[in-house]
Amino acid sequence: MSSQPRKILVTSALPYANGSIHLGHLLEHIQTDIWTRFQRMCGHEIYSVCADDAHGTPVMLKAQELGITPEEMVARTRAEHHQDLLDFFVEYDNYHVTHSDENKELSELIYNRLNDAGYISKRTISQLFDPEKKMFLPDRFVKGTCPSCGAEDQNGDSCDNCGATYDPTEMKNPRSVVSGATPILKDSEHFFFDLPQFSDMLQTWLKSDALQSEISNKLEEWFEKGLQQWDISRDAPYFGFEIPGAPNKFFYVWVDAPVGYMASFKNLCDRSGINFDEYWGADSDAELYHFIGKDITYFHCLFWPAMLEGAGFRKPTGVNVHGFVTVNGAKMSKSKGTFIKGRTYLEHLNPEYLRYYFASKLGANVTDIDLNFEDFAQKVNSDLVGKVVNIASRCASFITKRFDGKLSDNVLEPELVAEFQNAQASIAQAFEERQYHKAIREIMALADKANQFIDANAPWVTIKDESKQAFTHDVCSLGINLFRLLMVYLKPVVPKLAEQAEAFLNDNLSWSSAQTVLTGHEINKFKALMQRVDMDKVNAMVDDSKENLAPTVTLDPNSPLVKDPISDTIEFDDFAKIDLRIAKIVVAEHVEKADKLLRLELDLGGETRQVFAGIKSAYQPEDLVGKLTVMVANLAPRKMRFGMSEGMVLAAGPGGKDLWIMEPHEGAQPGMKVK
Ligand code: 2FM
Ligand code: ZN
Repeated sequence: MSSQPRKILVTSALPYANGSIHLGHLLEHIQTDIWTRFQRMCGHEIYSVCADDAHGTPVMLKAQELGITPEEMVARTRAEHHQDLLDFFVEYDNYHVTHSDENKELSELIYNRLNDAGYISKRTISQLFDPEKKMFLPDRFVKGTCPSCGAEDQNGDSCDNCGATYDPTEMKNPRSVVSGATPILKDSEHFFFDLPQFSDMLQTWLKSDALQSEISNKLEEWFEKGLQQWDISRDAPYFGFEIPGAPNKFFYVWVDAPVGYMASFKNLCDRSGINFDEYWGADSDAELYHFIGKDITYFHCLFWPAMLEGAGFRKPTGVNVHGFVTVNGAKMSKSKGTFIKGRTYLEHLNPEYLRYYFASKLGANVTDIDLNFEDFAQKVNSDLVGKVVNIASRCASFITKRFDGKLSDNVLEPELVAEFQNAQASIAQAFEERQYHKAIREIMALADKANQFIDANAPWVTIKDESKQAFTHDVCSLGINLFRLLMVYLKPVVPKLAEQAEAFLNDNLSWSSAQTVLTGHEINKFKALMQRVDMDKVNAMVDDSKENLAPTVTLDPNSPLVKDPISDTIEFDDFAKIDLRIAKIVVAEHVEKADKLLRLELDLGGETRQVFAGIKSAYQPEDLVGKLTVMVANLAPRKMRFGMSEGMVLAAGPGGKDLWIMEPHEGAQPGMKVK
C-alpha cells in the first residue's frame, strides 16, 4: 500500500425517500462508514457523500396518500434518514437530496452532453395507462392474472406462483393498483439512451479491477444477451426533473439518482472549497468508489459508467457490491418481526453491537449476511465485552488506586507489544480490501493473547504482595497498552467505544498510534464502556417490529351482524378501497352539547387518531377505554362542529344500547388490518 495520501470519494446507494431506514440499508451504510473511517484514520483525504433519492412514482403516490407535497415528504424523510444514520454513527460529509438545484443542473448538463453527442433517440411506445388517475403505470403498479399459469393477483412483471416474467401488457384482467381501474394501452413518445454504443468501453472497464469477479461474470451474461436501448423518460404526472426542451417529459428516477452522488459532492464542494473537478473530471486522479447492494448492479455497472463516459466525466474506480441481509436465516419478514427499522433497533439496542456484528461477517464478496440473534448476542458479549473491554477493566482500577493513575515507565514484554504492532499491516490490508471479517478475526486473536497475558500474571494476586508492586504496575500498564492497540484497530468499527476509550486513555487514536506505547502516561478513571447484549431487549425489538407492521386478522365469522336491510350494492373495487383497522380506545369522553357523540382517541398501533363517534347511547366513556374497535382508517378527515374527525368507528349490534365492541383478550391488536 502506498504511504502517499490518497484522494478518495465514496458513496452509499441513496435511500428512497418513501420508506424508513432498515437493517438492510444499515449493512451498506455501516460498510461504507467503516471503510471511510479507516482511510481517514490512515491520513488519506477521503470524502463520503450520500443523499435521499427523492424522485419517482412511488414517492409521488406516497405523498398523495399522506396529503402533502412530495417536496414536504422528501424533506421530512431526508431528515429522518439522516438522523437514523447519525445515530448509528454513520457520518457522511454531506447527506443531500436528489431534488436539489445541484442535481437538476448536473442532470441537465449530462443529458445535454449525451444528446449533443448523439446518444439520445426518441420513439413512441405503448404502455398501460390508468384512465382514472390519468397516469402511466410502472410495472409494480399493475396487478392481474398470470398469462402463464393463470394465478390471480400477480405483480405486473412476474408471477410469484410459477416464476414467469412478462410484460404487464400480457397479463389477463390487469388492474391498476393505484385506483383499481382497468388499464388501457396508450402511446407516448419516450427518450432512449443508446447503451449499446458503449459496449466496447464497458467490456474493457469490466475487465479492469473495478469489479468483484462475481459481478463481472454476471455482467458478461448480460453482454451475451446484448445491451438494449435504455428508456430514460417518464410522462407527467411524475415527481422528478423535466427533460430540457421536452415539456411534460421527466427524467426516469434512475437517471438523476446516480447523478445525485455528484450533486451531493458538489453541494459539499461549494460549501467547503473542495475542487469538484479534481474528483469528477475525465482526467481525475482521485479514487471514486460506490458501495451498493447486488440488486442495483445493472444501474451502477452499465448505465452509470456509460453516462459518465458519454458526458465527459471520469468512471468509478470501483463499484463495491454487497449481498442482502437475512435475519435468522430467512428473508426479513414483516410478520415475524424481522423486518427491523433502524429506529426500532435504536430504541432497544446499542448501535455499535450491530456495527461490530456486521463487520465480523462482512467480506468483499456478494454473499448474503445473516443476522442470527443468538450469534449476535454471543459474539458481541464474548468479543467486545468479554475480551476487549474486559482487558481494560481488569487492569485500570489497580493503576488508578495504587499507582496514582500513571502507567509504568517500563514495557514488560516488548515482544508481545511487537506482535500486536506487527499485526497492523495485515489488519490494514483486510480493511482496505473490505475483508472486515478477517480484520476482526485477527483483532480478536490478539485480544485473546492480551487476556492470556493478564491471566498468566494475575495482577489481582500480585497486588497483595508488597515486593511485587513494580511488577504488578508493569503488568497492568502493559494490559492497558494492549487494550489501546486493540482500540486503534477497532476504531473504524466502533467509533463511540473508541471515543470512550480515548477519554479513559487520555489519548487520541490514529492509525499510526499503533506504533507507539504509552509509558509514564497518566490515564483517567475507568468507567464501564459497554453493557452485554440483553436477549430480552432483542426480543422486545422483534415484538415492536411486529407491532409497527401489524399482520392481517380475519374477524370471527360468527360475529353478530346488523339486521337492517342491505342497501344498494357497491362494486368490489369500492369496497377494496376501505382500509379497516383494529384500533384501541385510549381516551373516551363526552362532548359538550352533543347528544350522541363521544370523542375518542384511538391507537392504531403507533399512530393516534381523534374520532367523534355516535355511540353515546350504548356506552359510558369510561367503559370504552382499553377496548378495541374496528375503524375505517383511510376515511378523509372531516371537520365537525366539535373538531376534526379522523376516521370512523364501526360497531356491530342491533343499535341503541347494544352496540358491540371487542375486548382486548379477543386477540386483535391495534393497527391490524381487517379482511
Ligand atoms: O435502490 C435504491 O434504493 C435506490 N434508491 C438507490 C439509488 S443509488 C444511486 F444511484 F442513486
Ligand atoms: Zn404464473
